[in-house]
Amino acid sequence: MKKTYYITTPIYYPSAKLHIGNAYTTVAADAMARYKKLRGYDVKFLTGTDEHGQKIERVAKEAGLAPKVYLDDICDWIKNLWKVLDIDYDIFIRTTDDYHERAVQEIFKRLYDQGDIYKGEYDGLYCTPCETFFSERDVENGCCPDCGRPVEATKEESYFFRLSKYQDRLIEYIESHPEFIQPVSRKNEMINNFLKPGLEDLCVSRTSFKWGIPVTFDPDHVVYVWVDALSNYITALGYGSEDTSDYERYWPADVHLVGKDILRFHTIIWPAMLMALGEPLPKQIFGHGWLMFGDDKMSKSKGNVVDPLMLEERYGVDAIRYFLLREMQFGQDGSFTNSALIQRINSDLANDYGNLVSRTVGMIEKYFDGTLPEEIGTAAHDDEIEGMAIATVASVEQHMDEMRMTAALKDIWTFIRRLNKYIDENEPWILAKDASARDTLAAVMYHLAEGIRYVTVMISPVMTTVLPKVREQLPASDDLWTWESLANWGGLPARVSVTKGAALFPRLDMEKELDELNEIFEQQKAAAAEEQYPAVEARPAIDIDTFFQSQIQVGEVLACEKVKKSKKLLVSKVRVGEDVRQIVSGIAAYYTPEEMVGKRVLVVTNLKPVKLCGELSEGMILAASDDNGNLVLATTDKAIISGSEVS
Ligand code: ME8
Ligand code: MG
Repeated sequence: MKKTYYITTPIYYPSAKLHIGNAYTTVAADAMARYKKLRGYDVKFLTGTDEHGQKIERVAKEAGLAPKVYLDDICDWIKNLWKVLDIDYDIFIRTTDDYHERAVQEIFKRLYDQGDIYKGEYDGLYCTPCETFFSERDVENGCCPDCGRPVEATKEESYFFRLSKYQDRLIEYIESHPEFIQPVSRKNEMINNFLKPGLEDLCVSRTSFKWGIPVTFDPDHVVYVWVDALSNYITALGYGSEDTSDYERYWPADVHLVGKDILRFHTIIWPAMLMALGEPLPKQIFGHGWLMFGDDKMSKSKGNVVDPLMLEERYGVDAIRYFLLREMQFGQDGSFTNSALIQRINSDLANDYGNLVSRTVGMIEKYFDGTLPEEIGTAAHDDEIEGMAIATVASVEQHMDEMRMTAALKDIWTFIRRLNKYIDENEPWILAKDASARDTLAAVMYHLAEGIRYVTVMISPVMTTVLPKVREQLPASDDLWTWESLANWGGLPARVSVTKGAALFPRLDMEKELDELNEIFEQQKAAAAEEQYPAVEARPAIDIDTFFQSQIQVGEVLACEKVKKSKKLLVSKVRVGEDVRQIVSGIAAYYTPEEMVGKRVLVVTNLKPVKLCGELSEGMILAASDDNGNLVLATTDKAIISGSEVS
């Protein structure tokens, strides 16, 4: 029986169109899946969409559509994107699929029956845009530590999962399975930042919105995020259904590939759920880095979101797939820039690889009428080329097996460059003038053609369209385009025939491309800046007495410094009339402590004091913020003595 390989991407939120950063996860997973298929594994590659929750409910409503109608549309869009990017998934799960909903209900019920889920009251802080609850400890000055927007205090009846019960077993498991969380640096982060400080039980149901899977035994509740989304990795295989044969065959997953932002959920909540279910844990969770636009986070409101469809249309699928996996050191953050993309296309693809193919085929046509002779002699460097081909296969296998895709590509390109140098060293154009050097010339050509075959097979998991194109130019039987055929050098028949085709990667005019790309991004930015009034959710109407329960006064900032344990917080001494108070604010990204001193600000003075990152905060400084990452303090129009009441 074949060995199995089960790889997953996260399920995507269909709340917005996906960008190149999202596509990165999927391209990486697809390249791994294709590689394993080539290596003879029985592969299952899962991707899909994460369709429940308050945010989807809201976005659909804003679009004036029923959630399911909205979702069908955007799912089609996502599936088309994957088709364009040549993503060859085996299963596409939608969390609104019937089979998934039924299985989730069953999982929820089982965890409840066995006491791992219990009913309680949720009393916490919730960030609606991120659909995440935060503990007092994580919230920074009343704001979400992820998106920086205010969190809302919520109190509602909820079901809880006993996450705390699994803390010790999780630490034990992670410590004794060093391959479980990759890259290793992320493992320490999980242990030290999240597990060691202690786990709180997890809210797993909601009553405040409806767009979710109903809890069968308490229909006011819908299953909230975790049990729904994370379970997709097993329900997609039939777990909790009639037919569990795929589950038995493919679980545990070989790897869940996820962005670093969701690593915590996958390395703590998901394993704990599986432990509770008595199921084996996935073999590995790999947290890849973040793709930035230059130095900035990609964000729709900044207008710097890179549209993968636009790139594909301009440069083709292989250029994008290659760029993503080559330019980003897999596991680390990386950045997309227009010039880096064009540079890679011109140097690695057009110059190195494309040229190697067209030069070789061109010379075989020119010097041998397109067909190498049967008898082939030996030439200088032959052993070296041969040895390097075999060594490259071995190192590429090792890298790929440990998901070092960037390193694998680097090694392949070292070989490609060696082949180009081999042409220059042997100067075929000089050999061609010497009748007695026919054998040598043929041998040089043969080594190049065979080298191209090696390279083309090795890059085929990453670049999906080149192999058929190269095959047209360098016809050889099916069995010569398999990974196995690379075990022994010399697979190509001695009598090689070639047919010249179009350039694989035409060279681009750098300046022209940059101008055009810049133009596209400028337009995007302008459109984003115009359209974006902040999305503010209206709160219920209140009467004036309710409003006046808040006391707002003018304060003068006397001193200000950074809060040591936080990147976002400043702590100020503020004079409010006769009082001097200490106030912590999440404004460090917008104001320096020096700038703050002397400012007259508006302060909510009757808030109960709280501690934020260890600092006492006796009030709140008011500020306005938009969706474009701007924040400004509210101040008075003209000077007025501190302590004056605002009403
Ligand atoms: O998180 N660079 O879905 P999602 C690299 N539904 N990766 C990026 C990225 C960027 N700039 N932006 C996003 C979710 N990603 C949940 C998952 S799984 C049970 C539930 C990655 O649509 C991100 O890290 O917000 C994640 O891996 C994937 O895109 C989907 O993100
Ligand atoms: Mg996300």
